[in-house]
Amino acid sequence: MASVVSAPAGVAVGPTKLLINNRWVTSKSGKTFPTLNPATGEEICQVAEADAADVDEAVKAARHAFEKGPWRTMSASERGKLMNKLADLIEKNADELAKIEALDNGKPYSVAKAADLPLTVACYRYYAGWADKIHGKTIPVNGPYFSYTRHEPIGVVAQIIPWNFPLLMQAWKLGPALAAGNTLILKPAEQTPLTALRVGELALEAGFPEGVVNILPGYGPTAGAALSHHWDVDKVAFTGSTEVGKLIMEAAAKTNLKRVTLELGGKSPNIVFADANMDEAIEGSHFALFFNQGQCCCAGSRLFVEEKCYDEFVEKSAARARKRTVGDPFDAKTEQGPQVDQDQFDKVMAYIDSGKKQGAKLMAGGSRVGDHGYFIQPTVFADVKDDMKIAQEEIFGPVMSIIKFRGIDEVVDRANKTMYGLAAAVWTRDIGKAHHIAHNVRAGTVWVNCYDVFDAAAPFGGFKQSGIGRELGEYGLQNYTEIKTVTVKL
Ligand code: NAI
Ligand code: MG
Repeated sequence: MASVVSAPAGVAVGPTKLLINNRWVTSKSGKTFPTLNPATGEEICQVAEADAADVDEAVKAARHAFEKGPWRTMSASERGKLMNKLADLIEKNADELAKIEALDNGKPYSVAKAADLPLTVACYRYYAGWADKIHGKTIPVNGPYFSYTRHEPIGVVAQIIPWNFPLLMQAWKLGPALAAGNTLILKPAEQTPLTALRVGELALEAGFPEGVVNILPGYGPTAGAALSHHWDVDKVAFTGSTEVGKLIMEAAAKTNLKRVTLELGGKSPNIVFADANMDEAIEGSHFALFFNQGQCCCAGSRLFVEEKCYDEFVEKSAARARKRTVGDPFDAKTEQGPQVDQDQFDKVMAYIDSGKKQGAKLMAGGSRVGDHGYFIQPTVFADVKDDMKIAQEEIFGPVMSIIKFRGIDEVVDRANKTMYGLAAAVWTRDIGKAHHIAHNVRAGTVWVNCYDVFDAAAPFGGFKQSGIGRELGEYGLQNYTEIKTVTVKL
């Protein structure tokens, strides 16, 4: 089972194999791949690498568990109990999980412990509560008939998640899928497989029946594509890039029309009016962009600031960014760790370069930190124009672009000129302006005088090319059920 490797911070990494049908197995090919510590670029350990043959095996196990296993016939409240047990186990092991998350992803341990872990536990508990509250309606149809709906599980669900919030994305996927009675195969991102596997181990401890929770670490174009192309997978839930989201949808269309939900990229407008509480707007906008090393799908990465307060806002935001502490994820003072890998590091550095070349004004940062690991200085550009690359494309790193605006109608138009529509925010003391922005910006979430406020009960997802469907809350649950109408002659 678990191969335990001692990491720099004395972290035991937990299982490193595939979890299929409640057993830890090596991949059929015997292949493994390395997962790296982004703070050093060094290998933490090797992890079993799933490919199509392993996907087949896991889908068979999940199908059997769905159709013949006790999962299907167990009381809904029993499913809820198992989920609560898993939540309790995650909470009990929160310290260890936060360490593994920090080691594998590079995020500060203190942040993982204070944010990722409690949000993860809350998500499982929220959906555990739903397990025995999923019910249909009685419908007053014409004639001597009794008609009602059942909300049934979709079946075998494949879930493909990214590396920016490994534990939390797993919870967002497993929570509603399990509550609704589906069986699942989760593929964690190749950069960050370790906490997903440790949660798999905790699911075994909680006592989930065989084949309900299967976990297959591996790469996207192999294991991920095998899942999205599989004829016996009933749904794929994906979080990641818009580019891969389109491939997933295409794969679904070319095979069995499996259900698809997608949580994709963003270029979210964060709008600051001069009448806002300036200190809160500056700190809030700093958080909106730099949280999680800037690796957030909903990062406030187009920061529109009203002309009247623009210069003050830029000065203070740059000063705040210069003060941000970048360093060892296990140092309690660290606010920002490394980017997740070399690819992301290179991509972000190329955007910084393009900002400089296209004439944005560099106010803070702009370089790497140190000479090993993937650390980047908190970077602030002012005088950013709407058509610059850094204002158009998802950077997914610690690069703030501050853009000037004059009026409310103008800023709504400019905020909406993007293919994305994931999130937005507005900072103002004027309730009329706040609601005008909230109602006219095309995005799945709008925050007013706050940012990144997440709750398991509040739905999250994108307009336009930021995705399809919603996660979290009751709306998220609906994406894991099929509606069946039953009509009985009286
Ligand atoms: P990605 O979309 O390639 O990876 C996300 C997940 O999809 C991973 O588990 C990966 O293995 C899997 N995947 C990749 N190719 C696949 C395929 N052909 N079929 C099925 N699954 C596949 O994202 P990547 O390369 O890690 O990051 C690229 C950019 O995507 C980032 O710079 C960022 O802009 C964006 N991104 C957005 C995220 C979000 O939360 N919306 C999360 C991660 C990345
Ligand atoms: Mg890693």
